[in-house]
Amino acid sequence: MENLDLNRLPKHIAIIMDGNGRWAQEKGQDRLYGHYHGVISVRKVVEAATEIGIEYLTLYAFSTENWDRPEAEVTGLMVLFVDTIAKEVPDLHKNNIKLRFIGDLDMLPPAAKKALADATEQTANNTGLTLIIALSYSSRWEIVQATQKLALAVQNGALQPDQITEAVFAAALTTSDFPDPALMIRTSGEHRISNFLLYQMAYAELYFTDTRWPDFRKEHLVNALLDYQSRERRFGKTSAQVQTND
Ligand code: IPE
Ligand code: IPE
Ligand code: MG
Repeated sequence: MENLDLNRLPKHIAIIMDGNGRWAQEKGQDRLYGHYHGVISVRKVVEAATEIGIEYLTLYAFSTENWDRPEAEVTGLMVLFVDTIAKEVPDLHKNNIKLRFIGDLDMLPPAAKKALADATEQTANNTGLTLIIALSYSSRWEIVQATQKLALAVQNGALQPDQITEAVFAAALTTSDFPDPALMIRTSGEHRISNFLLYQMAYAELYFTDTRWPDFRKEHLVNALLDYQSRERRFGKTSAQVQTND
């Protein structure tokens, strides 16, 4: 932790929290047991991110593709989301954390939708960490719905096709209020993006660890940040340009 340069932190970290199922199965337990332990990691990582001074943290909790999992797992996860939000929101609120949810939230059961809406409203004026939970989220879904929104605006005459700039497009995404993630972490050994923030991660630094999500703690987050700080972010320029700030 003392090796971290607090002046060079990523403003926004995105995490693909993977490996709950394998973690549980390795212990001879049901996959849901892994998801329950995954919630403990969420709490620890949110605490650590707040303490370190991260401004935005996006956690991938459930993908559009995850709806195709066995019904018992999907139902169990929905119950877990609702319970966790009910249990955690008072503390999150006390810690000045602003909660946001991105994804195709209309797909969620009514109880979950209500819990998310209440949590968003309750924490809307908080000024600390913005904690973004991606639920029923897929990046292709998001890009397509943004395209539909813009197409409709063109059809209505509110927008000209040549006014669709990168900034206008980004503003039509569910992440319009947040900067792009500078660091993306995926746990549990898989080296893929799995339909997560494809547009927004154009220049994110990618960090992969074998640690399963239920084992992920502050020290793992700090290691990812140290790795991030050891990299040179060139954004297409040469190393010499970046070093002279040219
Ligand atoms: C991540 O863990 C949580 C969700 C996708 C909901 P997994 O459930 O994908 O765990 P593994 O990858 O099967 O181990
Ligand atoms: C990605 O994990 C989605 C979440 C962590 C919520 P998956 O476990 O669903 O991804 P794949 O199937 O291994 O690509
Ligand atoms: Mg997985």
